[in-house]
Amino acid sequence: MTKTLTILGIESSCDDTAAAVVRQVDGVPTVLSSIVFGQTELHADFGGVVPEIAARAHVEKLDTCVEQALKQANVALSDLDGVAVTAGPGLIGGVVSGVMLAKGICAATGLPLIGVNHLAGHALTPRLTDQVPFPFLMLLVSGGHCQFLLVKDHDDFTRIGGTIDDAPGEAFDKTARILGLSQPGGPNVQKAAENGDPKRFKLPRPLLNQDGCDMSFSGLKTAMIRARDAVIVENGGLTVQDQADLCAGFQTAVADILTEKSRRALEQYFALNPAKRTFAVAGGVAANTQIRTQLLALCAKLDTEFVAPPLALCTDNAAMIAYAGLARFQAGEHDDMTLSARPRWPLDQTAAPMLGSGKKGAKA
Ligand code: KG4
Ligand code: ZN
Repeated sequence: MTKTLTILGIESSCDDTAAAVVRQVDGVPTVLSSIVFGQTELHADFGGVVPEIAARAHVEKLDTCVEQALKQANVALSDLDGVAVTAGPGLIGGVVSGVMLAKGICAATGLPLIGVNHLAGHALTPRLTDQVPFPFLMLLVSGGHCQFLLVKDHDDFTRIGGTIDDAPGEAFDKTARILGLSQPGGPNVQKAAENGDPKRFKLPRPLLNQDGCDMSFSGLKTAMIRARDAVIVENGGLTVQDQADLCAGFQTAVADILTEKSRRALEQYFALNPAKRTFAVAGGVAANTQIRTQLLALCAKLDTEFVAPPLALCTDNAAMIAYAGLARFQAGEHDDMTLSARPRWPLDQTAAPMLGSGKKGAKA
């Protein structure tokens, strides 16, 4: 007999209000709808996400977002098997808004409530998109996250390294800002770098000579400011070529750090003797062409499949929350009305907490 599970997902932990419906039929999941309302313009004047503004915008948009997700999926509340919601980590006001809405729906319908860790959502996305078997290695790399995870089951994650300060996306955004390029910085730095010479500026690759998979990007940010200032002192300003060379140097430094640390993370992953070797990436920075190309080349050398889910499912969305909730529900787990919002919630409870908090709020 066909086994079907249909789950509504709700996400509001940072600056995207999102709702989605995922249906799994005989073990194969499909995204029936995925609606994301971004808040970029609301925070544009502030140089980062303002938690109070974010929370208010989530409250205003969440109901409409859920309505649209159900409508687009052509699903009624009575067709659902459960409601999954991000219960952390993230900006507390936003997380509370989502959890309260999910509780309201569950109280009214009697549907099971399933609390989901936002990072588990990202980490399980390769199973939603490509049905990647456990165990696989995951690199989450965005404006708010940067960590390597060994994903052994839907609730079994081992963090084997991460940033000790900023996330690479923050460094891309800062680089754009100091060079007068517009936000979000990543795509604009990438575009400028296309015409640049990556060797003109000598930029550091922090922690590269240290063992392990931890990374650091704040020193690179500072080095960029120094390099820019030196050019301005010497030539009285920045030319388009200077901008391009600085962007190319920066992007190559980030790509080199991520590639070398990925090589070491893969070594640890291979020690698990996976039947099929898979390295997956997620997060906005994983959209970067140079980074993707270098990681793909590394995987090709090491006989490992490289999986990069479509960008809309790599960045914050609710389909990943619905799917992570579905995996919990399938394993017989769900929550009750005592579910609470958690600003900090490391996926790997045994790993030492990382330093730094990032512009997008608390890192797990
Ligand atoms: O995953 P995401 O949408 O949001 C979170 O941070 O949670 O990632 C956004 C980050 C931004 O910092 C943006 O500048 C960066 O991803 N990004 C890129 C590229 N596209 C987006 N960074 C480098 N290259 C890109 N092509
Ligand atoms: Zn995220």
